[in-house]
Amino acid sequence: MTTRFTLNGHAQTVESDPTTPLLYVLRDDLRLNGAKFGCGLGQCGACTVVVDNQAVFSCLLPIVAVEGRSVTTVEGLGTAAAPGALQKAFEVEQAAQCGYCIAGMIMRAHALLQQTPKPDETQIRDYMQPNLCRCGTHMRILRAIRRAAGLSPPAAERA
Ligand code: FES
Ligand code: FES
Repeated sequence: MTTRFTLNGHAQTVESDPTTPLLYVLRDDLRLNGAKFGCGLGQCGACTVVVDNQAVFSCLLPIVAVEGRSVTTVEGLGTAAAPGALQKAFEVEQAAQCGYCIAGMIMRAHALLQQTPKPDETQIRDYMQPNLCRCGTHMRILRAIRRAAGLSPPAAERA
């Protein structure tokens, strides 16, 4: 079956079984390896991409569901040579340890800032909650998101 959608700002057409998860199409067919396979069950967030400004688990979303929609992956935010604001903030805050969760974290944060450019601390923590980092870099990830949004750290971190 043919699926037509917009991928990182460009028209994209893929031929696949309509039930194939978007994650598999991105990684195996389109060679975009930013989004990672973690659990395959919607429980870790490593596969997070943005579809029409919503963070989604691409391991659970069948490719047919993105017909006519706009998909953004971490590759769409910038490059190693020219990182986007969020990518740069994660780099400056050294928010990665093994790095496996980071593309998903960046994409969930991207969706948050698209919806709410100046989120408060509760909004950041609530929105990021579905994505897990087994290395425990969550505090640095929160700092990176605040940096990208131009927000001050909460009082507890300023002390
Ligand atoms: S791989 Fe998709 S949520 Fe874990
Ligand atoms: S940096 Fe290793 S899982 Fe998050």
